[in-house]
Amino acid sequence: MATGKNRQILLKSRPKGRLQPSDFESREVDVPEVGDGQALVKNLYLSLDPAMRGWVREGESYIEPVAVGGVMRGGTVGVVLESKNPKLAPGDKVMGMNGWQEYALIGGNENMSRKLPEMSLPLTNFLSVLGATGMTAYFGLLDVGEPKEGETVLVSTAAGAVGSIVGQIAKIKGCRVVGITGSDEKCRWITEELGYDAAINYKTEKLDEAIKKTCPKKVDVYFDNVGGDQLDAALLNLNKHARVVICGAISVYNAKGDLPPGPSNYLALLIKSARMQGFVVLDYLDRFMEGGMQLAQWIMEGKIKHREHVVDGLENAPTAINMLFDGSNNGKLIVKIADE
Ligand SMILES: NC(=O)c1ccc[n+]([C@@H]2O[C@H](COP(=O)([O-])OP(=O)(O)OC[C@H]3O[C@@H](n4cnc5c(N)ncnc54)[C@H](OP(=O)(O)O)[C@@H]3O)[C@@H](O)[C@H]2O)c1
Repeated sequence: MATGKNRQILLKSRPKGRLQPSDFESREVDVPEVGDGQALVKNLYLSLDPAMRGWVREGESYIEPVAVGGVMRGGTVGVVLESKNPKLAPGDKVMGMNGWQEYALIGGNENMSRKLPEMSLPLTNFLSVLGATGMTAYFGLLDVGEPKEGETVLVSTAAGAVGSIVGQIAKIKGCRVVGITGSDEKCRWITEELGYDAAINYKTEKLDEAIKKTCPKKVDVYFDNVGGDQLDAALLNLNKHARVVICGAISVYNAKGDLPPGPSNYLALLIKSARMQGFVVLDYLDRFMEGGMQLAQWIMEGKIKHREHVVDGLENAPTAINMLFDGSNNGKLIVKIADE
């Protein structure tokens, strides 16, 4: 039986604007006892996601807000230490929404937990390219964006965890792919290493001009992770029957109070008989196996590359999360909680 303490990070208050370390607090509680049908998981890695900014905001969303005083929600991969569940055995690796804490109890499908297959790929991949990140890219682009060979796909946060996979899948599907990102190093990485046809540094270039130059046949699919000015500039450059995929809007997540108004160029949708559609990756939970198998095959064939940015120590999660908002993460942001 596991004994000892479970370090947890709780949401202390509802943040205003950017997340502050003072919005969180740490506490130690006893490692919980395992009941019938349950298993005790030691969390090894925690995924940090821009969506977490939304999860701590009050108001209607696709998921309940994290309660003030509750353990901060987060996707983890971990190892089963002890089990009274016939489907789980000590040593099994599991992923699930098991929170910002060292240990968690899981039952059958509690916290969306599931046992991971044995694979030669690193465990962290189940939080990045083989986890919700990869699934977001895969289903968002293919199901919502419906790219066709020869079309032009424009992707924002193009060097990020989701964006970098979107761009490479679009290349596999035979598209011209242009990425928007926030540094020359990231622009070089996506063009020289990932095979993007062109890159735009939104911090140094004029967006509308740069999109016109890099997308001479206009944009058929815009995969939007940013919202705001980038969405507006993309809307001005759509092709007839274009698809705008609303995956995220990181430029507005830290807005204080009400969110800023939506895109002023939305009438482009009318002019171009185009559509704009949002999606949540959780809509595709029952197809994760399909997406995971395909992505794993592409990784093993060398068709998909990806980066992971691992920060050591659960106690650093409240500060590390802001790397997503200042762009200092290079690839999927992950916190290492314990040694494998
Ligand atoms: N719909 C869904 O189910 C779903 C699921 C997962 C993720 N998402 C969305 O996908 C997007 C990317 O998430 P991720 O996990 O892959 O993160 P990520 O791209 O690895 O990291 C976030 C990146 O956003 C960029 N950024 C930050 N603030 C910005 C701003 N004000 N304007 C423009 N760019 C900014 C930065 O890159 P630069 O250096 O390039 O600026 C930063 O590195 C987010 O919008 C997220 O909410 C949606």
